[in-house]
Amino acid sequence: MKLMKQPVRGLAAALNSSGKFKFKAPEVAVDHLVIGAGVVGLAIAQRLCESFPSKSTYVVERHARAGEETSSRNSEVIHSGIYYPADSLKTRLCLRGRDLMYQRCRALDIPHRKTGKLVVAKDNQRPYIENLHLKALRSQWPPYSNAIDDSPVLPTRLISGDESRAMEPNLSQDISAALWCPETGIVDSHSFMESLEHDISESEVGNLAYATRVVRLDPYRSSKQMSEAERGWVVQTVTGNDEGSGTESDTILARTVFNASGLSGPFILNSLLPPERRIPMYHARGSYASYQGPGISGISHLIYPCPDTGPNAHAFASLGTHLTLDLNGKVKFGPDIEFLSPPSSEDSEENMDYWTRHLIPDDSSLEKMHLAVKQYLPEVVADGLRPDYVGIRPKLVPAGAGFQDFVFRIDYPCQFGGGGTVGEGPMISLLGIESPGLTSCLAIAEYIVNDLLSSTNPAQ
Ligand SMILES: Cc1cc2nc3c(=O)[nH]c(=O)nc-3n(C[C@H](O)[C@H](O)[C@H](O)COP(=O)(O)OP(=O)(O)OC[C@H]3O[C@@H](n4cnc5c(N)ncnc54)[C@H](O)[C@@H]3O)c2cc1C
Ligand SMILES: *[C@@H]1O[C@H](CO)[C@@H](O)[C@H](O)[C@H]1NC(C)=O
Ligand SMILES: *[C@@H]1O[C@H](CO)[C@@H](O)[C@H](O)[C@H]1NC(C)=O
Repeated sequence: MKLMKQPVRGLAAALNSSGKFKFKAPEVAVDHLVIGAGVVGLAIAQRLCESFPSKSTYVVERHARAGEETSSRNSEVIHSGIYYPADSLKTRLCLRGRDLMYQRCRALDIPHRKTGKLVVAKDNQRPYIENLHLKALRSQWPPYSNAIDDSPVLPTRLISGDESRAMEPNLSQDISAALWCPETGIVDSHSFMESLEHDISESEVGNLAYATRVVRLDPYRSSKQMSEAERGWVVQTVTGNDEGSGTESDTILARTVFNASGLSGPFILNSLLPPERRIPMYHARGSYASYQGPGISGISHLIYPCPDTGPNAHAFASLGTHLTLDLNGKVKFGPDIEFLSPPSSEDSEENMDYWTRHLIPDDSSLEKMHLAVKQYLPEVVADGLRPDYVGIRPKLVPAGAGFQDFVFRIDYPCQFGGGGTVGEGPMISLLGIESPGLTSCLAIAEYIVNDLLSSTNPAQ
C-alpha cells in the first residue's frame, strides 16, 4: 500500500470568481431548473415532469450529451444496499432505489441482469462478512416501499469457501467463506439514461438543453421584467457547441433550482459563500482494467473482496478492486482509488475542471490491481489486464476521514440578499453523490420531490 505523503487538500473553487460573467436581469422564468444531466439530474427532472404536469422543468447540461461525466464512468452495478450505516440516506435511498431501478428496467426493457454477487473472505476477514450478514438481517424496508409479507429487504446468505467455489470454480483456496447477495445486478446505464431523457422530452413540460453551461447564479431580487411576487434564482447560461463555451447566453429566473452538477457541485454554491464557508471538494480517481486471460472460467457473478476498513467499519473510501461483468459478459476489474491533488491556484475556470486531465486511463495502477485481484482469483495474469476507463468520485471528505453520507442542502434567496422568506424559492443542492448514486437515483428523485420539496414553499 502506498502511503499518502501529505494530506490532499480539497478544492474550494467558486464559479465565476474571475467575474467574467456580469449580472443580467432574467428574460424568462421557469418553475424548475435542474443543473446537470447525469443520472441524478435526469431522474429528478423525470419525476418533476411526472409529478407537476403544469409546471415547467428545464434541464441544463454543459456537454453535448447526457451522462458524459461520472454517470458513464462507473461499475454499472445495481447495489443491494448492505454497506452503509443502517440509518444513513445511502442505505435508505440505495434500498429503495434498487427496487425502483429493477422495476423500471423490467417495465421498459432496459438491459440489466440480476447477477448476484459474492463478497469473498479469507479466514481473518470472516468477521467482516458475518457482520454484514447480521446487518442485512436487521435491515428494514425503507419509506415508500410496498413490501408484501415479511420478505427480507436484504436476503443475504453466508456460505462456505467450497460453496463459493461451486459457484465460481476459479476462486482461491484461501477463500474460506463468502456472503451471497442475490439482489445485486448490473444495468446498461446509457439505456437507462435514454429512457429518462425520453420521458422528459415526451412530457409537455420538460425541456433538455445540452451544450449549455450554467456560468453564474444569483439570488433573485426584483426587476422590471418580472412580477414583484417572484422568488427564486437568476441563472445565467452559455450555449455553444464547444462544451458550452459559445456566446449565446440566456438569463433565466428559476423558481426552484435543483443542483445535480456532480463533480462541479460545490462551485456554484461557493460563488455565493464567503471564502471561509466555502465547501471543499475532493476528487478520488478510480481506474478500471479490462481482462482477458486465464483464471476467470465461467464467471457469472460479481466478486468483491472485503474492503480495507479505516478507523471504523464504514470508513472505507472504496469497496476494493472487484470483478464486474458487463451485459456482454466482458470482465473488468476496478476501481482502485487515488485522491487527486488540485492545482494551487483554484479560482480559474480551467482549474476548476482540473480533474478532467486525470480521465485518461494509464497502466500505472495495473500492477497493484493485479496483486489485489490475485488475492481471490489466483490464476489471473498481469498480461491480460488492459487500462480501460477512469471515473472520478465526488468526495466531501478527504482520505481516511470516515463515513460520509449523501448531503442534500437547501438554500433560499433571502439568505443571500434576495427576496422572499425562508421556504420560498428553494435551491436544493446535491453534494457528494458518489456510489451508490446510480442505484439510488430514482429514490433520490422521489425523496427530493416527496420529502424535501414539500417541506419548502416553492414560489408559485
Ligand atoms: C469509479 C466509480 C464507480 C462507481 N460505481 C457505481 C456503481 O457501481 N453503482 C452505483 O450505484 N454507483 C456507482 N458510482 C456512483 C455513480 O456513478 C454516481 O453517483 C452518479 O453517476 C452521479 O450522478 P450525478 O448525476 O450526480 O453526477 P454526474 O454524472 O457527474 O452528472 C453531473 C452533470 O452536471 C453537469 N454539469 C456540471 N456543472 C455544470 C454547469 N455549470 N452547467 C451545466 N451542467 C453542468 C456535468 O457535465 C454532468 O453531466 C460510481 C462512481 C465512480 C466514480
Ligand atoms: C477454473 O475453472 C474451470 C472450470 O470452470 C476449471 O476447469 C479449472 O480447473 C479452474 N482452474 C483452477 C485453477 O481452479
Ligand atoms: C450545487 O451543488 C453543489 C454540491 O454538489 C453545491 O456545492 C453548489 O453550491 C450547488 N450549486 C448551487 C447553485 O447551489
